[in-house]
Amino acid sequence: MLVVSIGGSPSTRSRSGVLLERSRQWLQNRGVEVVTFQVRDFAAEDLLHARFDSPQVQHFQQLVAQADGLIVATPVYKASFAGALKTLLDLLPERALAHKIVLPIATGGSIAHMLAVDYALKPVLSALKAQETLQGIFADDSQVTYAEGSRPAQLLPVLEERLHDSLETFHAALARRPSPVAPGLLNERLISARWSI
Ligand SMILES: Cc1cc2nc3c(=O)[nH]c(=O)nc-3n(C[C@H](O)[C@H](O)[C@H](O)COP(=O)(O)O)c2cc1C
Repeated sequence: MLVVSIGGSPSTRSRSGVLLERSRQWLQNRGVEVVTFQVRDFAAEDLLHARFDSPQVQHFQQLVAQADGLIVATPVYKASFAGALKTLLDLLPERALAHKIVLPIATGGSIAHMLAVDYALKPVLSALKAQETLQGIFADDSQVTYAEGSRPAQLLPVLEERLHDSLETFHAALARRPSPVAPGLLNERLISARWSI
């Protein structure tokens, strides 16, 4: 099972990044392979000039194509998801998320824009033909405390519980996901099928 996780925050000190990292650990403890991409690690020119042929972008596209599921984490910026994340999602081919399960994660300064994932991010995931986009997690900044020295980042217990519930749902959805039929195989099956009444 392969999950691609995408961090949409331009900041290295990132609350949505803390949730993404927790999710990665949780999934890896259950034997799921997780490959993480951060939007800030891509060359800005590739994103701003929409360079579909950049090797880094093509590597990203290939891993997304191989993935069973994705976790997409973003800060809320101006009542929507981060623009930098949009420039990366714009580089995915049409139907890039077909047959894939997606778990969205967002953090925001207050709960005022807690629906940003629903009205802004989910339509984009749906345009990329995600098979199933889960309810997802929203946390406000007071629920996530950064790591300090040797003390790891902390989540309020209520958030920790919500995150684990969502990851359980995500994991179960990945496990029951039917593997897509290889191109050509369906055609072959139809041609060789024997029909009787
Ligand atoms: C440019 C900018 C715009 C923001 N706009 C909003 C907003 O509209 N609504 C909101 O709730 N929080 C907003 N915030 C706060 C961030 O969403 C919040 O601090 C979030 O947890 C940051 O995530 P990160 O640490 O992963 O970057 C904004 C922060 C920045 C820097």
